[in-house]
Amino acid sequence: MSIRIAPSILSADFARLGAEVRAIEAAGADLVHFDVMDNHYVPNLTIGPLVCEAIRPHVKIGIDVHLMVEPVDALIPLFAKAGANLICFHPEASRHVDRTLQLIRDHGCKAGLAFNPATPLALMDHVMDRLDLVLLMSVNPGFGGQKFIASTLPKLAEARRRIDAHMAAGGQPIWLEVDGGVKVDNIGEIVAAGADTLVAGSAVFGAPDNDGGYHTVMKQLRK
Ligand code: DX5
Ligand code: ZN
Repeated sequence: MSIRIAPSILSADFARLGAEVRAIEAAGADLVHFDVMDNHYVPNLTIGPLVCEAIRPHVKIGIDVHLMVEPVDALIPLFAKAGANLICFHPEASRHVDRTLQLIRDHGCKAGLAFNPATPLALMDHVMDRLDLVLLMSVNPGFGGQKFIASTLPKLAEARRRIDAHMAAGGQPIWLEVDGGVKVDNIGEIVAAGADTLVAGSAVFGAPDNDGGYHTVMKQLRK
């Protein structure tokens, strides 16, 4: 299984975002994780399509847009146009989950569903064939730098079983991403429980010695 690392730019230096995304790409990042918060679905306010468009020419790797917004649909064409490759949203924030997933695919992006720590995995049941990504939140969404919630591990194993069963039955591949509190010292057990895509914000951008880039911490995470 190939493992993808997606540094979250929520913890980057926003005054030098172009250089920051170039640095993580140079250090081997597979995706840029782009956290969109609206002070409505979550109690924080971050960045939108204009910033996505601004960083797009700086890197070749995919931009993984995590929408923590409500409502969702109106932003999808804007992010697709701004260069997003993957767009993921929270099912509680969309009245019509199936329609929103299709809307993302109609705009040429991969579609993902994000599960909060208390959101049951059963919400994926009837839309499996529309999913490219399942994102499991291992913290409550809204802020970087929170502590990993341990109950995510059994939930992750359960999500892995569902996805494997889907693929074994001839279904399309679905990535399984974990977001929140991923660090050098717990990434091993998170991968062992079934994740193939890891978001890491403060672990990457807050690395104590970032060696003028992020090579050391990216290597430690990869190992
Ligand atoms: C939280 C965001 C995460 C966050 C992760 O709501 O979705 O992507 O940036 O940050 P760390 O890795 O610091 O927990
Ligand atoms: Zn995120």
